[in-house]
Amino acid sequence: MRTPLLAANWKMNMARQDAHKLVEDLLAKVNGVSGRDIAICPPFHLLADIEKLIEGRDSIYLGAQDLYWKDSGAYTGEVSAPMLCDVGCKMVIIGHSERRAMFAETDQTCFNKIAAAISHKLVPILCVGESLEEREAGKTEEKVVAQLRADLQGQKIESGDQLVIAYEPIWAIGTGKTDSPENANKTMIILRQTLAEIFGAEIAQQVRLLYGGSVKPENIAGFMNCEEIDGALVGGASLKADSFAKIVNY
Ligand code: 13P
Repeated sequence: MRTPLLAANWKMNMARQDAHKLVEDLLAKVNGVSGRDIAICPPFHLLADIEKLIEGRDSIYLGAQDLYWKDSGAYTGEVSAPMLCDVGCKMVIIGHSERRAMFAETDQTCFNKIAAAISHKLVPILCVGESLEEREAGKTEEKVVAQLRADLQGQKIESGDQLVIAYEPIWAIGTGKTDSPENANKTMIILRQTLAEIFGAEIAQQVRLLYGGSVKPENIAGFMNCEEIDGALVGGASLKADSFAKIVNY
């Protein structure tokens, strides 16, 4: 059984005071919810604060939005896996399409980052997804399979709970457009088959597959009702306690 995971990607948003209020309100609203995991992935400057706020809460995990694959050294501006562990992170988003498009992330850098995360027992949330052009050309499957293979082939994991995949069609991010749950589920089936080819069927069955792209309280249930969709990676709607709590409580 895969426990549903609802993950908040705050992107480059939130000052400290607003972040405290959001997390306190969210905790009050999800108090008593069981049978699902929550991840909060704030910008780096908020990690330590949020770790204190969620300390002792079962099933609520702190995540970062990126890391650099070296442990330490002369890499100005970068943050390493041991540093994320030091501040209490359990997860880290890798290869978000915004990083691939705007910050020159390649499949090779994603591979290196995932290897660093895994070796420090951080769970990578690897993002994959196709552009509108690729979608319209019928190349969704080809794109996401190529990304999975390039970013994961050769990684060493012993169980599927060491990895999360987020399928985020790029054209659905921040646009208010979503993939249909049926289509997203079909893509998830392909992703799981590819994971089985890379890691074996048993591990592939344990990996959680999230949908991302304009997830809101009004559409979350449709995705969660799909057999292969195990959760969501939520941007805009995770910046308000009320809407993210409704997504968690779908
Ligand atoms: P939105 O939910 O704002 O579309 O963002 C999705 C996303 O990119 C999450 O990583």
